Amino acid sequence: MSVRTIGVVMNGVTGRMGYRQHLVRSVLAINEQGGVTLSDGSRVTLRPVLVGRNADKLARIAAAHGIPDHTTDLDAALADDGNLIYFDAQVTSARVKAVLKAVDAGKHVYAEKPTAESVQEAVALAQAAAAKGVKNGVVQDKLFLPGLLKLKRLVDGGFFGRILSVRGEFGYWVFEGDWQEAQRPSWNYRAEDGGGIVLDMFPHWHYVMENLFGRVTSVYAHATTHIPERVDERGERYAATADDAAYGIFELEGGVVAQINSSWTVRVNRDELVEFQVDGTHGSAVAGLRDCRAQHRAATPKPVWNPDLPVTARFRDDWQTVPDNAEFDNGFKIQWELYVRHVLEDAPFPYDFASGARGVQLAELGLRSSAEGRRIEVPQL
Ligand SMILES: NC(=O)c1ccc[n+]([C@@H]2O[C@H](COP(=O)([O-])OP(=O)(O)OC[C@H]3O[C@@H](n4cnc5c(N)ncnc54)[C@H](O)[C@@H]3O)[C@@H](O)[C@H]2O)c1
Repeated sequence: MSVRTIGVVMNGVTGRMGYRQHLVRSVLAINEQGGVTLSDGSRVTLRPVLVGRNADKLARIAAAHGIPDHTTDLDAALADDGNLIYFDAQVTSARVKAVLKAVDAGKHVYAEKPTAESVQEAVALAQAAAAKGVKNGVVQDKLFLPGLLKLKRLVDGGFFGRILSVRGEFGYWVFEGDWQEAQRPSWNYRAEDGGGIVLDMFPHWHYVMENLFGRVTSVYAHATTHIPERVDERGERYAATADDAAYGIFELEGGVVAQINSSWTVRVNRDELVEFQVDGTHGSAVAGLRDCRAQHRAATPKPVWNPDLPVTARFRDDWQTVPDNAEFDNGFKIQWELYVRHVLEDAPFPYDFASGARGVQLAELGLRSSAEGRRIEVPQL
């Protein structure tokens, strides 16, 4: 069977996500396995063209991985007809301008989330891509996590009966940067640079809720900045102007209530950095990044509230591990393969800019809810 190669312009590969998840774990990993297999059995490999602001950093990455093409000139990369796809993992604030440029050049576009900083821009992006007729996609990696795939299997198999509520707990302590280096880039803590946990995480929660449990119809959020000052990559103090924790309540179609805490100012006392507990009339489950445990109604213990007695029941022992029943690949890579097949043979890809815009909408309404101290309906875009 034939092997074809297509050029993929990758902007933002010096960053955390662009380098590790998208270049190394997705594009290069796809090539190592022999490419993406299309439905006719033929294969397609990807020729990354690294784009960024810093020529030296790009050259180092290119050399380390034997990549011939790298440039600081985005226009030149977009002018090359051999480059079919533009991918963007830049800081959020730089995204819209570059993606619009790529759309204008007739490239198919794939981008990290959030697709934009405002719903207006996110919708404009979706409209521009549709008007130009280019395939568009947004990264929704959490859907491909083993834990969430197993949770989805329980939903699809009718395990829960009627789903009542979802409780999500996401977060970990991000060091302030003074006595221990921060483990996330400082722009995340500056609102003026596109930072903030609501804009970062609500788009994720949006597609998780929409894909697993139903459309989000309202949001009430309390966002706050618990740590007002941090120390940046150069060791300099800066004002943390963006929210670093958000406590959200979402209503979903069908009456499901989802309550999700997101925080970079919480110490982990959980099995995983994110966990969702789903309670339904017939059963409950707790899913993390990798694991999923379930408890059926027939195996539900009957706790009785009595603070006068010591707790003897080991509640967590009453849960059953949901088996893998499959091999799970890297979620970013799976989504890249789906996107390439979408571009080349119109395979289904529901993770488009319109769904990205709905995620940005939830972030924007979440911030407004917090500022105004009230619950806000989420209109259909
Ligand atoms: N899917 C996920 O799970 C996930 C996780 C983290 C971040 N993200 C998203 O990925 C994007 C990149 O995040 P990251 O954590 O990799 O950030 P990062 O700071 O590590 O990387 C940012 C990249 O953008 C480039 N850049 C372009 N213009 C810039 C500017 N004006 N200022 C600073 N850098 C600029 C940098 O050179 C770098 O290559 C963000 O939009 C973020 O929301 C997604």
